[in-house]
Amino acid sequence: MSMQNVASQAIPLTPPKRNSLKHIPGDEGWPLIGKTLEVLADPKGQVERMHAKYGPVYRSHVFGETSINLLGPEANELLLFDQAKQFSSTHGWGMILGRLFPRGLMLLDFEEHRLHRRALSVAFKSGPMKSYLTSLDAGIAARVAQWKAQPGPILFYPAMKQLTLDLAATSFLGAYIGPEVDEVTNAFVDMVAASVAVIRKQMGRGVKGRERIVTYFSEQIPIRREKGGEDLFSQLCKATHEDGALLSTQDIVDHMSFLMMAAHDTLTSSLTSFIGALAAHPEWQTKLRDEVNALGIAPDQPTTFDNLEAMPLSEMAFKEALRLKPPVPSMPRRAVRDFTFKGYAIPAGTLVGVNPLFTHHMAEIWPDPEKFDPLRFSDEAQRNRHRFAWVPFGGGAHMCLGLHFAYMQAKCFARHFLQNLSVSLEPGYKPDWQMWPIPKPRDGLKVVLKAV
Ligand code: HEM
Repeated sequence: MSMQNVASQAIPLTPPKRNSLKHIPGDEGWPLIGKTLEVLADPKGQVERMHAKYGPVYRSHVFGETSINLLGPEANELLLFDQAKQFSSTHGWGMILGRLFPRGLMLLDFEEHRLHRRALSVAFKSGPMKSYLTSLDAGIAARVAQWKAQPGPILFYPAMKQLTLDLAATSFLGAYIGPEVDEVTNAFVDMVAASVAVIRKQMGRGVKGRERIVTYFSEQIPIRREKGGEDLFSQLCKATHEDGALLSTQDIVDHMSFLMMAAHDTLTSSLTSFIGALAAHPEWQTKLRDEVNALGIAPDQPTTFDNLEAMPLSEMAFKEALRLKPPVPSMPRRAVRDFTFKGYAIPAGTLVGVNPLFTHHMAEIWPDPEKFDPLRFSDEAQRNRHRFAWVPFGGGAHMCLGLHFAYMQAKCFARHFLQNLSVSLEPGYKPDWQMWPIPKPRDGLKVVLKAV
């Protein structure tokens, strides 16, 4: 029997009978559509209202199924840390991402997940990370130089999306990807757009995108194995399981597709909210620029790991941006066994979710929660905070594998951006953010860039 079968057979795939959740407070909204429209209209406010009415454990009905929301740091710890291995990510995320990203790392469970995570982690060790930094650094420096040459108003979100995509093309796929670069990146964009689309019309394009990507990766694997390369894809082509066997072609295709999706919108969203926050808080922008200038590196010098280490304020400001607008605002799981939380018995098979967006704005943990204040992440301020109070990267076995990659890209970007440009908002302009499924500014975020 394959490991995949072992993993999924242990898990009850059918949701529990509806009546078995009736003892949990909550309401399921309209027949069929449930609370879906309310959640889409105002995801943060909707959860806050449900919390005020029903408390930290409540029943809801979104996207065709009754689910239980568990709110707060203890809930995050229970589901994400999951010491008792009682929550399946496969049967939580699978409902949303399973069709386009089957068998991506986040969609595997337990022992099988552990084995694949181990194999993939070679691509995130410090040697390969240094080469990704070299390619990110060159790409960022070149793009910032273009912006500097054409200062003025810019829609930041689409500009950041394009940059993240271009950076992924080199750091993930290699500098010599060749003439297919546009074809591959377009296919990839279709696939990612479909994965987060609420409108199912996009699914067809997504599926076609996936077919094109699968073909590209499959053709390239033997070439990369022979020629090698410093990019993430080439690292995965060399990665092995514990017994020394190379990952299969299908595994590499599935992991690469998922990795690119996991990195793309999260980085675009977080870097946009980071720069948006600096535009709205010139005093912090100045502090971070001073930190960058104190590195003592000439504008045309490359960024090193040591430089990034010497940017603690930038890291704190990025963390605060991730608190205010977590790129993954909620995370689903499915209970493998009956469990109890805060006195409520919840049966096996139940779809359960935690909510970083809610936790990150709990006033009892984060005083004046809407305020941008990077000092919340000083050592001192963090000392007595629950370790699952801030979970933009999740936690436990599925904790984001690209977390250091994300910090690296954010700080490398901050270094070039702040060394060359200042950013501001037009007087009176209030950016309007859509917070779900991935936070993004509805109007693209209008900012004004000036050379410094
Ligand atoms: C600011 C940027 C990012 C944020 C906020 C973020 C957030 C997350 C979160 C919350 C999870 C866990 C979800 C869960 O447990 O249900 C996750 C998993 C993952 N992320 Fe990220 N991510 C970011 C960037 C990246 C990047 C750049 C990469 C790759 C280079 C990446 C690769 C992954 C992978 C492979 C997983 C699955 C890990 C596993 O299941 O073992 N992420 N990410």
